[in-house]
Amino acid sequence: MNFYDSERLRVFLEKEGFCEVNSLDEADYIIVNTCSVRKHAENRAISFLSSIKNSKNNKKFCLVGCIPGLYKDEIFKKYDFIDIICGPNSYKKFVESLKIYKEGKMVILEEDKDFFTDFILPLKDRKTSCFITITKGCENFCSYCVVPYTRGKLVSKPVRIIIEEVKKVIEQGVKEIILIGQNVNEYGKDIGENFVDLLYKVHNIEGINRIGFLTSHPKDIQDELIECFVNLSKLYKHLHLPVQSGSNKILKLMNRNYTVEKYIEIVEKARSKVKDISITSDIIVGFPYEKEEDFQETYNLIEKIQFDELYIFKYSPRPKTTANRFPDNVPQKDKERRHSLILNLQDKISLFKNKEMEGKIEDVFIKEKSYKKKSFYIGRTTNNKPVLINLEKDLLGEIIKVKIKEGLRHYLIGETLW
Ligand code: 5AD
Ligand code: SF4
Repeated sequence: MNFYDSERLRVFLEKEGFCEVNSLDEADYIIVNTCSVRKHAENRAISFLSSIKNSKNNKKFCLVGCIPGLYKDEIFKKYDFIDIICGPNSYKKFVESLKIYKEGKMVILEEDKDFFTDFILPLKDRKTSCFITITKGCENFCSYCVVPYTRGKLVSKPVRIIIEEVKKVIEQGVKEIILIGQNVNEYGKDIGENFVDLLYKVHNIEGINRIGFLTSHPKDIQDELIECFVNLSKLYKHLHLPVQSGSNKILKLMNRNYTVEKYIEIVEKARSKVKDISITSDIIVGFPYEKEEDFQETYNLIEKIQFDELYIFKYSPRPKTTANRFPDNVPQKDKERRHSLILNLQDKISLFKNKEMEGKIEDVFIKEKSYKKKSFYIGRTTNNKPVLINLEKDLLGEIIKVKIKEGLRHYLIGETLW
């Protein structure tokens, strides 16, 4: 989401005559886009600016995104070296204000009014894949989550704008579209549209090879969405479905609005209808009141479901959230132990699953060049697993048949059939 937002800000800035430079030395403004989802993300953004503050000279430091949305001008009290702050929904105002800015502290938090009405993203570089944001904000108020407080209410981008945006990036060579939102399944609630219809419409656009989407909320998964994986040939057979915990007690405290049993039912349905669908998830360990037996339930769920990939986070209390009023009562060492137990379990599961793919022939979308290994490319199978492959010619954006030679923990190694 922030990656897309940074692109969006770059587009607005360039329209007004600002330009991106290649080194910190050349810059008049240093703009850092920030995430507040966990304390660790905040610390990283702030410590980057602190680390360069001694060579600040006349440069202006701008902190944009979720941190200003959350802490507002309190930031200036703590970090005097910051000059301008701007929330995640105010980038148009930011650029207008920068045009007339001279000196001093500036705060830009008032939301842009026409947030999604006139925005089409031109790309900077040749790319085969592009994120397209389809919603902003979220009103689910999961008790640990800061997003409703930083990004505000759910606002859906009109279908017409999304289609125009997709067409525009395809004209520039993009072959893969990833539709993104905090909970894409709620797309359109506010404008009388729905996500499944949108998927069909995007699928109909000529020139796309692959379509994906992120993220889904288990409470909003409907049969029609699962049917999309069967009916829409360009759609990745991949569902990222954060479960967060395997304990119904914790899910309730998290205000997630589903049970473990309901979650298992969705996964079983998806797997029975969609051959080889890959299911990935997010887990939070050490949520308030997570006892050893609650953690064990999470562990057992992971063993039972056998996710293709898992993103595991240690609970981090966030300002304004409901859970912030609960005691952060799982000791840090238990959070760490639980984190590494799940990490080890998932390592085994992912490796096993990737090994099972050895010898198979897959349709692989060639997505990007490997930045580590010359002449190597990273592709994606139809169920969105990464494949490293050596290619003599540049086949970026194409789908080719690949034999899986080896399955490793994080990716597959493939070879061409010619
Ligand atoms: N602490 C730890 N993890 C969190 N996430 C969101 N908020 C928090 C928090 N306060 C995780 C969730 C979510 C992912 C994007 O980040 O697992 O799905
Ligand atoms: Fe946060 Fe996602 Fe819950 Fe919305 S649905 S409150 S973004 S975790």
